[in-house]
Amino acid sequence: MIVTIDGPAGTGKSTVARRLAEQLRFQFLDTGAMYRMIALKALREQIDPGDQSGIGRLARETVMDLTDGGYLMDGVEVGGEIRTAEVTKAASLVAQIPAVRELLVRRQREIASARNIVCEGRDQGTVAFPHAECKFFLTAQPEERARRRLEELAAQGSQVDFEELLREQSDRDQRDQERAVAPLRPAADALLVDTTALDLDQVVRLLREQILVRV
Ligand code: C5P
Repeated sequence: MIVTIDGPAGTGKSTVARRLAEQLRFQFLDTGAMYRMIALKALREQIDPGDQSGIGRLARETVMDLTDGGYLMDGVEVGGEIRTAEVTKAASLVAQIPAVRELLVRRQREIASARNIVCEGRDQGTVAFPHAECKFFLTAQPEERARRRLEELAAQGSQVDFEELLREQSDRDQRDQERAVAPLRPAADALLVDTTALDLDQVVRLLREQILVRV
């Protein structure tokens, strides 16, 4: 069974997907981390995130292992490094490159083959797994999403300006929604869930109920 959870940043997708996967004993796949790894490597190797052929080559050469709870890039754990503001921005730029998307979608399908899985990202229900049994699209008010991100960053010891965060989030949303390939949008058969007024437990419970009626 394939469960897809898509939506913009800050809707709680990752945490919800991870918890659901744990509770259901499904594999969890954070597809944003794949784009983040390529972005991290591009920054390290000083390749412009807009350089299609350079980034395409780098993506093909990168070995990713996201299946056992860790974030291994070429055999090295990069779970912390892929979450910086610089990598976040670069990830949304490399995600616009068609060859990168094609390659990563192929890898996502390989990971999902012959497994029960909860996949989380922007295009999981629309492009990667159009035949998934259960699709969700999470949304929330932009200010609430930025507030959650601010809280998350504060817990990690980073101080950032709320207005700046909101601006960056809006730029990222716009890039994701307006790109030519696999733009961020709900699949026609996805259940839309507005998480603005819900806490994580409530979202997990709601999605779980929907999944269990389909098992
Ligand atoms: O979800 P996360 O914030 O980690 O994703 C980082 C970036 O990767 C997003 O801003 C988006 O541009 C891109 N992404 C994507 N398709 C996915 C997952 C992430 O384009 N399936």
